Amino acid sequence: MSDNQNKVAQLIELREEARLGGGQKRIDAQHAKGKYTARERIQMLLDEGSFEEFDMFVTHRCYDFGMEKSHTYGDGVVTGYGTIDGRLVYIFAQDFTVSGGSLSKTMSEKICKVMDMAMRAGAPCIGLNDSGGARIQEGVNALAGYAEIFQRNVMASGVIPQISVILGPCAGGAVYSPALTDFTIMKRDTSYMFLTGPAVVKTVTGEDVTQEQLGGASVHTSKSGVADFAASTEEEAMELIRKLISYIPQNNMEDAPLAPCTDSISRLEDSLNEIIPDSPNKPYDMYEVIRAIVDNGDFLEVHESFAKNVITCFARFNGQSVGIIANQPKYMAGVLDINASRKAARFVRFCDAFNIPLVTLVDVPGFLPGTGQEYGGVITHGAKLLFAYCEATVPKVTVTLRKSYGGAYIVMSSKHIRGDINYAWPSAEIAVMGASGAVEVLFAREIAKIEDPAQKAAFIAEKEEEYRQKFSNPYNAAKYGYIDDVIEPRNTRFRIIRALQSLATKRLTNPAKKHSNIPL
Ligand code: HXC
Repeated sequence: MSDNQNKVAQLIELREEARLGGGQKRIDAQHAKGKYTARERIQMLLDEGSFEEFDMFVTHRCYDFGMEKSHTYGDGVVTGYGTIDGRLVYIFAQDFTVSGGSLSKTMSEKICKVMDMAMRAGAPCIGLNDSGGARIQEGVNALAGYAEIFQRNVMASGVIPQISVILGPCAGGAVYSPALTDFTIMKRDTSYMFLTGPAVVKTVTGEDVTQEQLGGASVHTSKSGVADFAASTEEEAMELIRKLISYIPQNNMEDAPLAPCTDSISRLEDSLNEIIPDSPNKPYDMYEVIRAIVDNGDFLEVHESFAKNVITCFARFNGQSVGIIANQPKYMAGVLDINASRKAARFVRFCDAFNIPLVTLVDVPGFLPGTGQEYGGVITHGAKLLFAYCEATVPKVTVTLRKSYGGAYIVMSSKHIRGDINYAWPSAEIAVMGASGAVEVLFAREIAKIEDPAQKAAFIAEKEEEYRQKFSNPYNAAKYGYIDDVIEPRNTRFRIIRALQSLATKRLTNPAKKHSNIPL
């Protein structure tokens, strides 16, 4: 063999060694836990053959606690770029087979390199997390590494989409990188996120909890709202990322993607003319409305199991990607509370940052009353949603289906906060409050004076009917131009598509400022 042939052979050998990460034994252990390796995950996620790896030969620079003896190539993270449906993405995948995927200074440098490259190229950055946290042997250098990543997460926020997937442990301060990104996907049963683990919790609070109870996927997708999606398998998690990416632009300078549309634009949905029950207290399922109006009934829900009283999802109208925010009358009557406000506000802000038009479907009885909500700061949290809608400059199309009362009327993308096109169904009730509440306030003195219960009930019924006639309709708001048109429900899809087309060239900017001061 010539010298050069020897060198090539050596390269191939080194590559093979690097690809083995922490070695076959640890790869087998990873598989035995029902987990894939970093490289297998990348292969599953990206278009076949598209992955280009960086820094395969990087090793750590730690010489304490026996680390001088282990210099695994790649140092616990696989980084590079590739494509998803032909679109460029940058990626890092922590390799648990190398020191438990723990974060060293060099690992953070590898991660920061792809984050910087993603920013320069204007492409999404995806992080696959599976790590024991800070590399204990590196002390403050590991913390410095985290800090470098956090700083970049924040600088990239609103410039390129950032997606985190949790596929194993993610504990301590390490949780803050996913928390700073746009979307977090957790794999059920094998992943967890918490600031302090069960042992510390037991010492400090005396609580006995398992990792799953403290920070498993179901906790974070239904109780805390820390994660947006849960996936049953790693394959499902990767499929979710691919679908999510399909709805969003590469960066904040691009428009939301247009996909080929195979659904009819003028499809009429007769079922919608009958979906609203006669009784205002009876629920219906907002998912049926969404399915009926979007392209091919297809949508991707964000935060499906958290604050189910509001639905947030990506969908398409005539191929145009949009973000839908819809009250769900089937769950807590679609009321806005702390969690629903936080969830919807964050979604509105993501869509606005990335030029994705907003379609708002309104059926909201108001904000949830009570000490629980007031003590929890519903004023501040509700203000987040109001702030997010007021600030948004993307096209905003609103359809009011039924109730739209009080402050919630204003918040849910009303005309007054720069809603571009506001439609209402004939069943819409746009008022300060519902009929029974209004009559109780307006006629309190008269009602108190009537002693006979039958007479009292008849008086209340009469006044409620009078109120309904006057306010429980869309025409009063339409009279002032607050509603642009009252539309037949079955035409909703067509009217939204037309509205979005007319707004495609919308230009609106907010006053120059350092940054706003959203109520946090
Ligand atoms: C160095 C680590 C490590 C770490 C795991 N390993 N975590 N090495 N630093 N933080 C190594 C183990 O020594 C082992 O090495 C290999 O990774 C696999 O770990 P196991 O314990 O065998 O795996 P498993 O039983 O699955 O348990 C995984 C684990 C556990 C739950 C993550 O390893 C663990 O509790 N690790 C410590 C977690 C921790 O306290 N991290 C610091 C958090 S504080 P070998 O050579 O045997 O394969 C933090 C602060 C960040 O992160 C602050 C940022 C602002």
